Amino acid sequence: MHNGVVNDPVRQLYSERRYPALSHPVTDISGLAVSARLAGLQGLAMPSACRVLEFGCASGHNLLPLAARYPGSEFTGLDYSDTAIHAARQAASAAGLENIRFEVADLEHWRPSDPCDYLIAHGILSWVPDPVKARVMDLCSQVLTDSGVACISYNTLPGWSLRRDLVPLIRALAGNPVAAALGGSPAAVAAALAGMAGAATPHSQYLKSICNDIARKGPAVLPFDEFAPVSEPLYFAHFATWAADRALHYLGEACFRDDLPEGIDVDAWPQLTKLAEDPLLLQQMLDLLSGRTHRNSLLCREEAPFEERTTTGVVLHFAAGRGAGELPVLAGEPAVVKVFRKVLLELEGDCVPVPDLLERTADRLGGGWEPTRHARELAGWIFQAARLGGLELRSEALHIGGDPDGKPRISALNRHFAANGQPVVDARHVTCHFPAGHSRLLAAMDGSHSARELAARAAKEFPELDFAGWLQHLAGRGILVNEDESAGLFISD
Ligand SMILES: C[S@@+](CC[C@H](N)C(=O)[O-])C[C@H]1O[C@@H](n2cnc3c(N)ncnc32)[C@H](O)[C@@H]1O
Repeated sequence: MHNGVVNDPVRQLYSERRYPALSHPVTDISGLAVSARLAGLQGLAMPSACRVLEFGCASGHNLLPLAARYPGSEFTGLDYSDTAIHAARQAASAAGLENIRFEVADLEHWRPSDPCDYLIAHGILSWVPDPVKARVMDLCSQVLTDSGVACISYNTLPGWSLRRDLVPLIRALAGNPVAAALGGSPAAVAAALAGMAGAATPHSQYLKSICNDIARKGPAVLPFDEFAPVSEPLYFAHFATWAADRALHYLGEACFRDDLPEGIDVDAWPQLTKLAEDPLLLQQMLDLLSGRTHRNSLLCREEAPFEERTTTGVVLHFAAGRGAGELPVLAGEPAVVKVFRKVLLELEGDCVPVPDLLERTADRLGGGWEPTRHARELAGWIFQAARLGGLELRSEALHIGGDPDGKPRISALNRHFAANGQPVVDARHVTCHFPAGHSRLLAAMDGSHSARELAARAAKEFPELDFAGWLQHLAGRGILVNEDESAGLFISD
């Protein structure tokens, strides 16, 4: 960290502009629990009974849906933007959430009073002045419980380097009348550069893809990311050093699938595997080879309790949610997987605890079931299959409910978001943007209008909308809920 921001352009930015309302899937504590558990952390508090703290929570779109999903847990969001905190409090009150509070506070001076099981610092570290970076890391070591988990996001080097180098040039082009034909705004200039880059060389292709991505982020996001007053990517090694200096241990990435970033050639594995003895060096190599630009890293206390990796621990539930036909076939699968696969196919997308699945497999095999060997083989297979994406591992079962044919209802929180022109969030903590007019339809889904009435309204106002198809889509994503609002949410078993 270098010294020096005298005044505070970051605070100025957030007092002038509101960060977009977004729920980031990586901040879903269910996913954090799974990733931390897979990394071997023991004694983890379950999302259904825990304390969660978010630094820089903005208007609360990460925490609010979690508070609605886990009424038995306590959530606290901090931000120095009083307008953002006001919006967050309004949403909590509209949704009747009593397990969440929002505080106007400057992280640099805030003093923690209670420990937390999950700490979220998303969109902070790379984008705040150095003293606040240091403070975020210090606080992390102060507030985490013995088995607590912190999720900290930041942009990474060397992947981010060309973007960093492009920013001053794009700024200059956007502000220079000589270059007015390029569009005048950073997003327009980036789009123009993408057009000019062509595809003749590896460099031009790379430049084109980065410029297209910058253009795609557009004016809603760029002022808070590439063009933020502070936008400092980090080498993973620096992050890991800051963590180690505070007796914090790197667990892995918030989404465990990101532990192995895309784009690594399988032929590189034999050499990379040798680096596994020095996990931090391995991570640095992976960043270099993949060119990844962003991390959501998990930290815990150095003295936190650990055990060997396992995928059969009680916290894990399993859902062949995206269609059992998509279950991956792995090279060299152990024979027991054949039987296990049949068990999975019978789930038809249901979410079932992993130990139950093992029991069902054991029942099928009868005397042929060898508990230690088969459980270990299946654990390895589940882990690899989940990494490849054919199935999901969750800390609790996910039950998608809601009746698209009756009187469609979305949660009070999502109705509040929709009524205020903000995106809604689905049962997997994914932000869903719909056209502004469609949000009005969503806001009307309070269970008092039949699907037929809503369809008539949709046909009049939005003749282009396939309303029945849209309702099915909403149901499939767990946005529709039942009368008691429980379905579409996670039920703790
Ligand atoms: C990029 S936004 C991220 C919002 C949210 N965490 C997310 O991931 O969507 C950063 C937020 O941190 C807040 N923030 C920045 N520096 C802060 C500080 N020193 N103290 C408190 N909040 C701060 C800003 O007001 C802003 O709402």
